[in-house]
Amino acid sequence: MPEQDTPTERKARLLAMLDDIGLNLDYDRLQTTGFEPDLQGWGDQDPIFDYVLRHFHPLVVIELGSWKGASAIRMADLVRDFSIPGIVLCVDTWLGSNESLWRVAENRKMLRLRDGYPDMFGQFIRNVVHTGHQTRIRHLPMTSGCAAGLLAAYGVVADAVYVDAGHDEAEVAADIAGFWPLLKPGGILFGDDYTTGWPGTVRAVNRFVAEHGLKLMGTEVKWLVRKPE
Ligand SMILES: C[S@@+](CC[C@H](N)C(=O)[O-])C[C@H]1O[C@@H](n2cnc3c(N)ncnc32)[C@H](O)[C@@H]1O
Repeated sequence: MPEQDTPTERKARLLAMLDDIGLNLDYDRLQTTGFEPDLQGWGDQDPIFDYVLRHFHPLVVIELGSWKGASAIRMADLVRDFSIPGIVLCVDTWLGSNESLWRVAENRKMLRLRDGYPDMFGQFIRNVVHTGHQTRIRHLPMTSGCAAGLLAAYGVVADAVYVDAGHDEAEVAADIAGFWPLLKPGGILFGDDYTTGWPGTVRAVNRFVAEHGLKLMGTEVKWLVRKPE
């Protein structure tokens, strides 16, 4: 992490990267024809979001796996409510890169396949605009592995990272390993689906926690660790 790094500088570095790669966009001008607001998601009302935003006031929050934006919008609501001048950066392929999102018919329908290719990014933007978070949310449309490399190359440092992309053990382990170095000392790493229904998530989190001697916290379904100062 660069010396003398302040929260404001962390946010400025992220915005500079987005400018540089052409992704600091005016969401009001993006194409969302045919999409109505639809905030379906998973566990976005969990108290863990309130806990993280209220107590740590993160300026740079990175979310891995955003889908239609429900959890990112929840965090942006809290950013607004706690008057944090923060940004929630949403990393997603918007391709439904989880087998269950393709195998389960109801989920597959939400991918809105058009000529055999998912078309749900407009839904995410529609929801962001509908909830008025155009200045609090930004997107990075790529795999989490690619995003980790790109953010590191630009020296971006996160105050908090929320992990909810791939749910296989290897995917969760790779996301944790890829984003831990991007987290500031004292930063928060947390994620979804620490449940018996997602044994890969549980194994990956448990292994990381044991290897790094961390204290595992969380709620009924979410996990959380704090990076040592
Ligand atoms: C469970 S959904 C996210 C749900 C969202 N956090 C919410 O609460 O509504 C998982 C998302 O992760 C994305 N995803 C899965 N693997 C990914 C990867 N390796 N890189 C980027 N996005 C990925 C999928 O496209 C999908 O939109």
